[in-house]
Amino acid sequence: MAYYLGIDIGTSGTKSLLIDHLGKVIAESTANYALATPKPLWTEQNPEDWWTATKLTIKGVLKKSKIKGSEVRAIGLSGQMHGSVFLNAKGNVIRPALLWNDQRTIAECEEITKRAGGRDKLIGMVANPALTGFTAPKLLWLRNNEPKHYDALRYLLLPKDEIRRRLTGELATDASDASGMLLLDVVKRQWSKELLGKLDIDPSILAPVHESEEVTGTLRADVAAELGLTTACKVVAGAGDCAAGAVGNGIVKQGILTASLGTSGVVFCHSDTPQYDRQGRLHTFCHAVHGKWHMMGVTLSAAGSLQWFVQNICSDLATKKGIDPYEILNAEAARVSAGSEGLFYLPYLAGERTPHADPLARACFIGMTNKHTRGHLARAVMEGVAYSLRESLDIIEQLKIPVKEIRLSGGGAKSDLWKQLLADCFGQKVCTINAEQGPGYGVALLAAVGDGAYKNIEEACKATISVVEKIPPNRASQKIYHTCFPIYRKLYSSLKERFVEIGGINA
Ligand code: XUL
Repeated sequence: MAYYLGIDIGTSGTKSLLIDHLGKVIAESTANYALATPKPLWTEQNPEDWWTATKLTIKGVLKKSKIKGSEVRAIGLSGQMHGSVFLNAKGNVIRPALLWNDQRTIAECEEITKRAGGRDKLIGMVANPALTGFTAPKLLWLRNNEPKHYDALRYLLLPKDEIRRRLTGELATDASDASGMLLLDVVKRQWSKELLGKLDIDPSILAPVHESEEVTGTLRADVAAELGLTTACKVVAGAGDCAAGAVGNGIVKQGILTASLGTSGVVFCHSDTPQYDRQGRLHTFCHAVHGKWHMMGVTLSAAGSLQWFVQNICSDLATKKGIDPYEILNAEAARVSAGSEGLFYLPYLAGERTPHADPLARACFIGMTNKHTRGHLARAVMEGVAYSLRESLDIIEQLKIPVKEIRLSGGGAKSDLWKQLLADCFGQKVCTINAEQGPGYGVALLAAVGDGAYKNIEEACKATISVVEKIPPNRASQKIYHTCFPIYRKLYSSLKERFVEIGGINA
């Protein structure tokens, strides 16, 4: 039998899953790790933690599935995008990686825009404006703030590509993940020599770019022996977690969108041609589908907002044994009516990307009265995230990109309440599919394609992914959200200047 492994190096943990050649999930394993916030709005992780979790979860799925290691023919890698793994000439990690939701690079984004000759020129080169989460500003931050580390730098890799290096010894990336570095000519799907020149960055620090299903190497002998796999096991290029998650949801042609509720929230659409949002609110990146593109809007703290709420505001629930704090909050929130009786939540715990590219934006609860309870707060968090995703959806619709079907995914979409609330807030039917694993499933399918089990990823998705549930909007709640959404939208503009002042307090 042929089996394929999909590994997703996420922000809260790494998840490995094993599928058979028909796409059936055989086993899954997850290992979590911490995220460091050394200063407000900074986020870092140690690549060693990803590697430990990767090995643990591969061993975990092999043990659970009881298959022979020699039957695992290929591995696909997915991971949190944009993170900066800084390596020296010996291949050692120089300092912890800066992550996608780190906001320390405001000055570097200005520097990049200036060196590129302005925002429009920059978008002309790499299809996107400079945003704090992207990788190039992190590299410039290292140059500007830690020159000793910068002098020692030999390679700059993305999180999943660091895991590839440890698995295979090869340096490689894929076009979807590379797009988020702000150094890729997204239209030509190759590094932008023009921008690299303007930023004075040596192109040899970057890994060669592949299409997602291409084989980038096989396992090293010592790694294969340690994991119980073989040196014949291939590792395909894989994809950034957004594109990988979209593949795992079957978003490989125009018309179907995915809205995902992971730590971040993403509204993602496929595009046969590279299209731009001239205002730069949506990202235009290469897709994990060979030679195709995608656009997406990113809410930085989606299910991450609820996780923050559980861990910090409901820590009594989080620490009680045998209790799922999310189940309790869902039940409490479900008893509250749509609109949370006038309570709003702005999900800007880590600043924001879409539609407000604003690293200084702050999360807020607005509209509290003495009648509001914990259930109201929890519901307001879910509604605030839904409004934020709706803003991305509205931009996609404004750009006249056809939306025939919206598929939900990510951990937050396990909540019946949150799913219904998204349908009500979008004012459209939403769907769930048979495969719940998102990015890990997407790259396991890409591994199957790379091994020749399917002709291409479109064929693989057609054979394995189908809609299982359609959730129509509840008309009464939809009406309430229709009134609340415009108020939510105005809150950011009312507070924008105050966020700048608040940011100045710590500075
Ligand atoms: C996408 C982004 C996030 C991370 C989360 O641009 O920053 O979705 O990839 O893992």
